[in-house]
Amino acid sequence: MDRIAIIGGAQLNGTIPVSGAKNSAIKLMAASLLTDEPLRLTNMPRLADTRFLGKLLTRLGVEVTESDGSDGQQTLLHAPEITSGFAPYDLVRQMRASFNVLGPLVARSGQAKVSLPGGCTIGARPVDLHLQAIEALGAKIDLHEGYVYAQAPRGLKGAEITFPFVSVGATEHAMLAAVLADGVSVIHNAACEPELVDLQECLNAMGAKVEGAGTPTVTITGVPRLHGATHAVIPDRIEMGTYAVAAAMAGGEVRLSNARPGLIDALLDKLKEAGAGVEETADGCIIRRDGQRLTAVDIETAPFPGFATDLQAQFMALMTTARGESRIRETIFENRFMHAPELMRLGADISVSGGEARVRGVEQLEGAEVMATDLRASVSLVIAGLVARGETTVSRIYHLDRGFERLEEKLGACGAQVRRIKGDGEAEL
Ligand code: UD1
Repeated sequence: MDRIAIIGGAQLNGTIPVSGAKNSAIKLMAASLLTDEPLRLTNMPRLADTRFLGKLLTRLGVEVTESDGSDGQQTLLHAPEITSGFAPYDLVRQMRASFNVLGPLVARSGQAKVSLPGGCTIGARPVDLHLQAIEALGAKIDLHEGYVYAQAPRGLKGAEITFPFVSVGATEHAMLAAVLADGVSVIHNAACEPELVDLQECLNAMGAKVEGAGTPTVTITGVPRLHGATHAVIPDRIEMGTYAVAAAMAGGEVRLSNARPGLIDALLDKLKEAGAGVEETADGCIIRRDGQRLTAVDIETAPFPGFATDLQAQFMALMTTARGESRIRETIFENRFMHAPELMRLGADISVSGGEARVRGVEQLEGAEVMATDLRASVSLVIAGLVARGETTVSRIYHLDRGFERLEEKLGACGAQVRRIKGDGEAEL
């Protein structure tokens, strides 16, 4: 298994281009199941998660072709017909969001058998709201032996869907299914994340009639069929936020480009409050720190536009060397502090109680061997490694490869000493 080794102490200076958003790309890829015409996605990140989903989609009848042209990385997805409605456990288990093929499969071909995704290190992550939505749209749902059997032989019907609390995945899933339903669907208490707006734009480019994404009420007027389209994936706000935190941690001056303003305001406000220099630009932002120690600030995760739970681990890493005590409250997932004990191996002073962590900043972290426990946790360890004295090695970085494209290259181009150590122990610079 590969590891990442970081020698701490180098400042970051340069430009980091932000890739297309993983969390958006994988839902957009699932949208290709809704039409017999090709869907071309541009600004596509190349990640383990997009590869997993590509594998599953191929099995369902989608021809998936990746290309790297002058206008960037693209994926062409074409499903002339659905050849199978079966999403097996071994593929869904590898990436939870694969579950989102259920809705499009039922919407297009009237049936699906999709594995339940199972647990996850950051919490139970049930899919009850997803099933509530697909059932409300008229599908008959049965659960047997770890599989969801969904049937709607005469097609889905528009419905009112009211979620008891906000779920990004369930809102996206409801949208993906309702676009081909007969009649109007209204989703109440919808998630407002930018990825939902991206999905709306893509579906509408395919001929769907979706309004309101980005607000708590989304209205979908079903259409009998969708057609092909070309759509550019929205920039990855979590990747952008991660490098913003990395720059604030290491010091120096980093320009984040190929992004959009307004995607990570909650984080940028906290970085400013902590004492980092933040300048918003037309396609991203510039983060500066001149060597002065940051001040501890508190955060509480919340649905968009609040502080993203996917940036919590990175911010905790930042606070480990800030002056004072920071309180970090996690409100979205119940078990999302697995990075805390790993950061403590690097010398951080953290105590966790329930959904709250208290981080008392230390002057200096020390390099150590640490282990990635989930996708965002793994990058928080890399961020800490940027300032830890000596070498930090992060193992189990398959978590990192799920969501960060060319991380060593992007950080390395700004002066970080980061390298991947291949599974056989040989270093790759
Ligand atoms: C998505 C993102 C993930 C991010 C999260 C919150 C993707 C691939 N992943 O995950 O990176 O951290 O949004 O911004 O886009 N819940 C239920 N029942 C359900 C669905 C969710 O109880 O049917 C709970 C979850 O366990 C969690 C909360 O709702 O506690 C929010 O989860 P949700 O917004 O659905 O997250 P995901 O879509 O899984």
